Amino acid sequence: MIVTTKELFEQAYGRYAVGAYNINNLEQTVGLFRGCLGKKGSNDDPVDAAASAPFIIQISRGARSYTDKRFLEAMIRTAEDVFADAIFAVHLDHGTEEAAYDCIDSGFYSSVMIDASHEPFDKNIATTRRVVERAHEKGISVEAELGMLGGVEEDIAVSAEHACLTDPDQAVEFAERSGCDSLAVAIGTSHGAYKFAGKQGLHFDRIAAIQKLMPGFPLVMHGSSSVPKEWVDRINASGGKLPDTSGVPEKDYLPAAKLGVTKVNIDTDGRLIWCAIYRETFRDKPGDFDPRTPGKPFMAEYAAFIAHKNRMLGSAGQLEAVRAALAVRA
Ligand code: G3H
Ligand code: 13P
Ligand code: ZN
Repeated sequence: MIVTTKELFEQAYGRYAVGAYNINNLEQTVGLFRGCLGKKGSNDDPVDAAASAPFIIQISRGARSYTDKRFLEAMIRTAEDVFADAIFAVHLDHGTEEAAYDCIDSGFYSSVMIDASHEPFDKNIATTRRVVERAHEKGISVEAELGMLGGVEEDIAVSAEHACLTDPDQAVEFAERSGCDSLAVAIGTSHGAYKFAGKQGLHFDRIAAIQKLMPGFPLVMHGSSSVPKEWVDRINASGGKLPDTSGVPEKDYLPAAKLGVTKVNIDTDGRLIWCAIYRETFRDKPGDFDPRTPGKPFMAEYAAFIAHKNRMLGSAGQLEAVRAALAVRA
């Protein structure tokens, strides 16, 4: 069942984080739904209540243009049918104003992100405000972004480092003036596989400072992949050439959630699993050329990975409580 992002946030806020997973293709979609229902190897496996989690399926502009955005919508509608127990929201990731309007008008999306974080403060507010007005008319919520993610290096002077992070006072003003429903904040993470060169990590002091000024307001953490060493090693053992790297420690997800981080965005980790499984398959079965040969183990591994992530986010085991809360409202 597709629900609003707002409904999921109301249930999760301050208790656990909802995983927001990017998808591009069928195998990722099936693995994601199986993982969020605790199904191990096939669509017909029983639902595991202890593993079942609400989730957000998110679609980037790159995913929308990879084949045709209509394939994604059709695939998700079919998954909603096949996995009738699932409760999830559909979200546009890193939208431009144009992409946001397209998603709002489609009637398919639960929420959109307008990412004008590269613009000056007032322009970011004005752009976000326009999208909020169009979205709210249709009951769609809006995630905006304030601050600059990425490239936090250990040897940069403290002031310069902190200049990248979201300023708590500005966050309050931004949310008030733009009317956004959730805010992506720069708290030390960056996108992709190369996040931390040394001992950097999340800036919990900054998250706490923002939450203190904005209690109850859902914060979003982008760049949340943990870049597991196991998967990087498997890629490199099967012909890949990824340098040593690390991501957000999984043990940090739940403490961040307690401080108001309600949506945790994960894309890169899924890509690493895809890369490892496909490389290993073609290395180990050089005579095989069937797309289903790597596809089957990928879906199983991705489902197991999603179930694990949901445990770390605290969302595993929450699905029935969400269902009950939504039923009471209906
Ligand atoms: O934050 C960006 C996401 O990882 C999506 O990446 O634009 O390559 O699909 P993409
Ligand atoms: P990762 O690159 O850490 O997976 O972050 C994904 C993301 O923030 C999508 O918006
Ligand atoms: Zn992002």
